[in-house]
Amino acid sequence: MAAQNTVSETVSETILVFDSGLGGLTVHREIAAVRPSADFVYVADDLAFPYGAMEEPALVARVVALMGELIATYRPDLVVIACNTASTIALPDLRKNFSLPFVGTVPAIKPACAASLTRRVSVLGTEATVKREYTHALIRDYAGDCQVTLVGSNKLAVYAEAELAGRSVADAMLTPELAPCFRDDGARTDTVVLACTHYPLIVARLRRLAPWPVSFLDPAPAIARRVADLLGSPPSPTRPGATRAVFTSGHAPTAVLARFGIRAEHPAPTAAT
Ligand code: DGL
Repeated sequence: MAAQNTVSETVSETILVFDSGLGGLTVHREIAAVRPSADFVYVADDLAFPYGAMEEPALVARVVALMGELIATYRPDLVVIACNTASTIALPDLRKNFSLPFVGTVPAIKPACAASLTRRVSVLGTEATVKREYTHALIRDYAGDCQVTLVGSNKLAVYAEAELAGRSVADAMLTPELAPCFRDDGARTDTVVLACTHYPLIVARLRRLAPWPVSFLDPAPAIARRVADLLGSPPSPTRPGATRAVFTSGHAPTAVLARFGIRAEHPAPTAAT
């Protein structure tokens, strides 16, 4: 955990936020808002993006190997796996291999089903996330009398990255990915779980393309609260924290990162390349 404060020096805590690409920025910004004095290392394994297209054993091996190098290099106090596709398969192996706390990002099925008035909830994630046993178990455990529709997209995360990079994605490409979320069997879907951290990046577009208003549930604020709980009181005296970014391709999108107040760092780690 974070070093103890002494009278003479400012101490800090370091949080490592990990995703396959830019989606974890939606989680990072929420954590940074509740933990403004923390230092962050934002890691995008963009060399392997999208994780949704990877076989499970290869994904687990890659994430565990890369994490070993990242922990040795940056010595974080806590790691956030800001990726549903990785969290729903790799968290047990990460916790087995490393002793520091890991916070995962998994589909917010429990709060969605608790809040739904029509008892119709859709879960929009990568094809991999909606296929995972972890996701199916969340439905068994928490859906209750809610009907849950799983909608897998292998394109939306790529579209979100393109939008962020300034390459506009036409409505006609987004609509078919979103449309299956909207079910009407006499009762209409009223809640869509954003089960991929990339999707909040384009939630304004999704909201505009929705055939009727729904609540799009982004779990990032809850993840931020969980991180703050685990870390306890921030060390003091404090000073504003800083975030640096590491992209495994070595090609960080500096202009995009600057919009999030983040500077890129080189060289990137070489593990699992
Ligand atoms: N951001 C990742 C997630 O939350 C998915 C993107 C990918 O396929 O790499 O699932």
